[in-house]
Amino acid sequence: MKETVVQAYESDTFNRALDESLHPGGLDLTEYMACTAGITEDSVVLDIATGRGTSACFLAGFCNCCIEGIDLSRASLSQARAKAACQGVSHKVRFHLADIEELPFKDAAFDYVVSECSFSLLPDKSAGATEIARVLKPGGKFAFTDMFLEHRFSDELKSLVPFDCCFTGAQTRDDYEALFGLVGLKSQLFEDHSFSLREITDKLRGEYGSLQVFWNQFGKGTASLCTGTPDAGGSCEGYGSLWKRVFAEGKPGYCLMVMEKV
Ligand SMILES: C[S@@+](CC[C@H](N)C(=O)[O-])C[C@H]1O[C@@H](n2cnc3c(N)ncnc32)[C@H](O)[C@@H]1O
Repeated sequence: MKETVVQAYESDTFNRALDESLHPGGLDLTEYMACTAGITEDSVVLDIATGRGTSACFLAGFCNCCIEGIDLSRASLSQARAKAACQGVSHKVRFHLADIEELPFKDAAFDYVVSECSFSLLPDKSAGATEIARVLKPGGKFAFTDMFLEHRFSDELKSLVPFDCCFTGAQTRDDYEALFGLVGLKSQLFEDHSFSLREITDKLRGEYGSLQVFWNQFGKGTASLCTGTPDAGGSCEGYGSLWKRVFAEGKPGYCLMVMEKV
């Protein structure tokens, strides 16, 4: 399942419309997140699921901080290294092939962990949360922007959807706070940035004509999103009605959360 998700983001389907910043809000929201969380040039930062390194390179330049980026995609990481060289920040940023659920860093190695539109993708969110808390220093902060749900999905909908994309893997605010609370990350801030989700869907509509066409294209790289659905007959097309239910039931939005390791 992880491989499927990673391959989907390696494709240019999102990138065509989003300019390599593969999350709602783009670098404007990255900048806002960094300022809100208080990242400075003295901060040692980890960007989990860094993708093509767009935010990591930006933060290295904007905050002048030292930053490590990890991702499961070799292809994206090699683009990230090329980007760092091109932007003249290679001395500030390093990229590693690694899984969020098994971070290759010592305990208490970082002042900040940041994550953009990635945590929701994890199949084992409690393993991910445990690792994030482990590598943060006491008093360190976890700043993340991600999908959230207004309402949990019904068990019936859960049984119909392969829960492996950011919409379907998102949690409610309460569930995120409970999950991170269990590993000693105390919520300091929750902000609703759902307007950035509307911006991204407008961009995708502009590029592809409709969201359905986008999902079909995206799904080509994610077989599990496109097969075995109740009404699809093995193609992506039938996802339309299922996606409508996902949106109607869960009312997904996009949020910024900042948590402190206590
Ligand atoms: C939506 S993209 C976001 C990339 C980047 N954070 C950004 O905003 O531009 C999701 C990224 O998560 C990575 N990913 C998914 N599961 C992962 C895991 N378990 N460990 C590390 N990276 C993962 C994918 O390879 C992909 O690059």
